[in-house]
Amino acid sequence: MPRKIVVTSALPYANGPIHIGHLVEYLQTDIWVRFQKMCGNQCLYFCADDTHGTPVMISARAQSITPEELIQRMYKEHEADFDEFHIEFDNYYTTHSPENKHFSEWIFNSLNEAGSIAKRNVEQAYCENCKMSLPDRYIRGTCPRCKAEDQYGDSCEICSGTHRPTDLINPYCATCRGKPTVRTSEHYFFKLADYQQQLKDLIAAGYTQKSVANKLDEWFKAGLKDWDISRDGPYFGFKIPGEENKFFYVWLDAPIGYMASAKNYCDKNSLNFDKLWNSDEYELYHFIGKDIMYFHALFWPAMLIGSGFKTANKLFVHGFLTVNGEKMSKSRGTFIKASTYLKHLDPEYLRYYYASKLTDNIDDIDLSTEDFINRINSNLVGKLANLASRSGPMLTKNLDSRLGRLDEQGKDLLNKLMAEKAQLTQDYENLKFSAVVRTIAALADQANRYVEQNQPWATIKTDLEKTRTTLTAVINASRILTIYLKPILPKYAERVERFLNVGKLKFADTETVLENHKINEYERLAERIDEKQVNAMIEESKESQSPGPQTAGPAEPIAPECTIEDFAKIDLRIAKVTKAETVEGADKLLRLQLDVGGLQKSCMAAIAKAYKPEELTDKIVVYLANLKPRQIRFGLSEGMILAAGTGGKDIFMLSADTGAKPGQRVS
Ligand code: 2FM
Ligand code: ZN
Repeated sequence: MPRKIVVTSALPYANGPIHIGHLVEYLQTDIWVRFQKMCGNQCLYFCADDTHGTPVMISARAQSITPEELIQRMYKEHEADFDEFHIEFDNYYTTHSPENKHFSEWIFNSLNEAGSIAKRNVEQAYCENCKMSLPDRYIRGTCPRCKAEDQYGDSCEICSGTHRPTDLINPYCATCRGKPTVRTSEHYFFKLADYQQQLKDLIAAGYTQKSVANKLDEWFKAGLKDWDISRDGPYFGFKIPGEENKFFYVWLDAPIGYMASAKNYCDKNSLNFDKLWNSDEYELYHFIGKDIMYFHALFWPAMLIGSGFKTANKLFVHGFLTVNGEKMSKSRGTFIKASTYLKHLDPEYLRYYYASKLTDNIDDIDLSTEDFINRINSNLVGKLANLASRSGPMLTKNLDSRLGRLDEQGKDLLNKLMAEKAQLTQDYENLKFSAVVRTIAALADQANRYVEQNQPWATIKTDLEKTRTTLTAVINASRILTIYLKPILPKYAERVERFLNVGKLKFADTETVLENHKINEYERLAERIDEKQVNAMIEESKESQSPGPQTAGPAEPIAPECTIEDFAKIDLRIAKVTKAETVEGADKLLRLQLDVGGLQKSCMAAIAKAYKPEELTDKIVVYLANLKPRQIRFGLSEGMILAAGTGGKDIFMLSADTGAKPGQRVS
């Protein structure tokens, strides 16, 4: 009996483009799904854009469009990228859908009825200027531990410590730099700890890989905490039933998006959703990255249990992608968008390379550009495609395009190839794709040795029928290896199918051979990669600098509009630096004494990494004269001198050494 299987990949956020890091998961899942389909199983692959939350809302504001417009635009881009990489979803939907709203409300109400929802007041940061509550990532300030400046509200990138946004020293809104206020608001919480035993049982029954289970153990030991599932408006998401200005936190409705995508598919295809989603007739698997284990191994199954749904048979967790041994980096050009990759390289090369690195564990996988080029050129082109390219044209040109019969030696070769089917099937099933690729390459070596031994290029001059027999074996070998490779290289396999003049190859076809069969003209199966292509892709990625949480525009969102009247309030003056000195305890600051046309002012400037005090004396600078004086830990700062740059050494004072006189207005 064929199996019935439902598969999901994590839903990509609708606030940014698909990049090669995302593709690890979608390719891993797609290969597995294609493998299941090739084995004759009914396998349905569902996914969707994850559309809700603050980043989408802020990104849309920054682009002066509605969140709906933004998510629509991103949907099209994501769909196109997935399509180009041959990732074949049975349904690609959106979390901003009526189905998702329905299920989110349904699950929330069920959890509420089950007594698993609590309400209590929380203190939260609020920006009066942006008129919104600030999630941890939208508040920045000085780390309470190591005092590093400009750190997020939840963790410090310098000392790696975690903290609450209210612990930050001098917190400010990441969007407008305004000082946040604290507001009290009633929030909804999901009582995760109520499900501790069921979750432990689920994990003990093999819900995740061992290494994931170990991590979960740590979390159980630390104690499961209530989960805040509501957010105050304005928020792009679904309103909580019975509330006017409270919304479900994006992470509540995101996994429910799996169900919504399945439901949408069922409705379009007249299938029974309850059976598909909630009966034992269908197996269910989620593929995710290790960064979102907490959500998928704890919150999500607990939500399902609490609302009467079944949980997945298994969660498949993979590691992160590194490039040349390091985190993907915009400055190194290794933060490569799917669309940039596609301009330079064949998507199947990445499919092949990732497959050659993917295992069933959660270790990170490394894309080494040198290894990438080598593997494609020596294995895919040199070993696999080479088999067909050596035999196909010879048969078409000299032997009437017709395969003959196999001799004993040929049968022997093919038997060896066929004998690996069981192991390969098991390795595919268990996500050991790197073993699959290794085995296929070793089999290709055997087939190439057979070619060397039989020397068809020599026998073609002396014995046509002997040559036909040899080529028949080689082409059959190529066919079997193509079947094994097809989940990884679907387009390569299509080219082979056309050239062999056969229908869609399935795993079961490895048990048969082609004899006395007419083939078509050979078409090129794979081209070598030139290092220049990879370098050009990296260069372009450096230039195009992925814009962070937005789809276009600067990484830090543009602050809310100010009017020309606001702007006119600014009084810029020429000032002369009469004295500059370091500030004890603040290695970024200099204290400047300024002469503003006879008026003496003192201000602090965070330029110590860019200028030495002695360089500044007598400099003519542009000074914001009417900024309200601020008392900071290191003294009073009156006004501000204008400088620009990316920080550290790269800060450049706006200097006005043009004969302008201190005190003069700048316009
Ligand atoms: O981490 C992420 O990219 C999320 N958008 C994944 C959501 S997966 C599921 F829960 F929807
Ligand atoms: Zn703000």
